[in-house]
Amino acid sequence: MMRVSTITTLICSFVMLLFATVAAADGVDYSQYQVYRFHSHNHSHIIEDVVRGQLGLKTEEYDVWTRNAEFIDVQLPRSINLQGTDVSYEIVIDDLNSAIGETFPLTSTPHHDNYFDIAQDSMVSSGKYFFFKEYRPLKTIYTWLDLLEQSFPHLVTMEDIGTTFEGNPLKVVHISTKNSTMNPESKTIVITGGIHAREWVSISSVLFTIYQLLTKYGKSRRETRYLDSLDFLIIPIFNPDGYNYTWNGDRLWKKNRQDTYVPQCKGIDIDHSFPYQWEDSKEFPCSEEYSGEEALQATEARLWDTFITCMKIKHNIYGYLDFHSYSQEVLYPYAYSCDELPRDYENLLELSYGLSKAIRNKSGKKYKVLAACQDRGSDISSSLGAGTALDYMYHSRAHWAFQLKLRDSGNHGFLLPARHILDVGRETYAAVKYFCDFVLNPEH
Ligand SMILES: *[C@@H]1O[C@H](CO)[C@@H](O)[C@H](O)[C@H]1NC(C)=O
Ligand SMILES: *[C@@H]1O[C@H](CO)[C@@H](O)[C@H](O)[C@H]1NC(C)=O
Ligand SMILES: *[C@@H]1O[C@H](CO)[C@@H](O)[C@H](O)[C@H]1NC(C)=O
Ligand SMILES: *[C@@H]1O[C@H](CO)[C@@H](O)[C@H](O)[C@H]1NC(C)=O
Ligand SMILES: [Zn+2]
Repeated sequence: MMRVSTITTLICSFVMLLFATVAAADGVDYSQYQVYRFHSHNHSHIIEDVVRGQLGLKTEEYDVWTRNAEFIDVQLPRSINLQGTDVSYEIVIDDLNSAIGETFPLTSTPHHDNYFDIAQDSMVSSGKYFFFKEYRPLKTIYTWLDLLEQSFPHLVTMEDIGTTFEGNPLKVVHISTKNSTMNPESKTIVITGGIHAREWVSISSVLFTIYQLLTKYGKSRRETRYLDSLDFLIIPIFNPDGYNYTWNGDRLWKKNRQDTYVPQCKGIDIDHSFPYQWEDSKEFPCSEEYSGEEALQATEARLWDTFITCMKIKHNIYGYLDFHSYSQEVLYPYAYSCDELPRDYENLLELSYGLSKAIRNKSGKKYKVLAACQDRGSDISSSLGAGTALDYMYHSRAHWAFQLKLRDSGNHGFLLPARHILDVGRETYAAVKYFCDFVLNPEH
């Protein structure tokens, strides 16, 4: 049990954080942009011939939001004229500024509720899910995680594994029980969110997973079994600098925030920075896909690599789930190439469909199953799938590894309104449970 004074201090600072973050939605103006969906199998045709060729746009004037076998979504200036091109398209987001506004907490309703309830609800009572009614900024989330550690000292250890370029800690939530720690064979599951800063629902869903695991332990048979026999290493915000910047600077920022050799273009795409099949993306630092000049140049990737290399003796990393948004897809390795067949291909595929089915059973939402290389477009241009966390973890660390791209399928894209947080959290958690069941009993 915590001392009362500690609880009061924590609750007060938590509530002050909530107030402090309410009016944060200033930032880059997107009124002159829209998101277009091009129906085409040939992405390089769309980008090279149409966007860069006929429209004459430079790297920093457009942004590819997502691509898959059927279409590619691209953010383009409102002023472009697509008449005279041969492409079939529709506008998926017309008013980006108002879509952005919908993801921030409402300024007009400061939370006047009793703070005690706020902190209690967000920590211990499992009914109300107060914390998941809005997206939360970095400081609030980090405070909440510290509160969880204090409330569940027998289950949670927070580990700061290093400091980012802007001086934020990279926090790993280690969830384990005495029983799982004592057992040298116990399998570790790694879960990450927020590698891309703007994919907010990936972070809220990882937080929801943490919350469910902790609050259901000892009450539900399933969670009790998970925590008694598995170890969890969970990084809810893999890119803290970028995430903070999406709240205070640019809601659609994707990369981290470290300096590059071009002073006005910050940031490396962390998901192109891992040292398996890393490739120089030949992209300019201003590009959203910039991989850095060498593997592990992104601070967060380097910290994680160092951490798990040292921890490998202690942890038997067995499963990996990396959450992103958007597209509603379950992706299996490899991302870097469609030519290399992953080991255990059939089981990997079966498990992918199991994850997708668990989600459908929970919420009715359809998640497509495909190889990450297809989703990345690395079958077209190899550098697009290079250096991902998925391949790196699968190749050298985890026996089973997946990337899940959460909701939606495009109406809001990265800008999923806060009212969906809980539903996405619940369907994500259904997939996590399916994954844990599989890891505990691979033969069924
Ligand atoms: C796709 O478009 C690129 C660029 O126009 C072109 O070089 C390539 O041949 C096209 N690929 C297919 C399969 O049509
Ligand atoms: C402790 O862990 C072992 C190995 O994972 C497992 O077989 C056992 O059931 C666990 N004990 C409890 C009480 O859950
Ligand atoms: C978040 O960003 C703002 C504005 O860029 C900065 O003033 C603040 O120090 C940052 N906070 C953290 C925790 O990084
Ligand atoms: C489907 O959901 C029901 C109730 O929500 C649950 O009991 C059942 O185990 C689920 N089935 C699968 C395959 O996940
Ligand atoms: Zn992503």
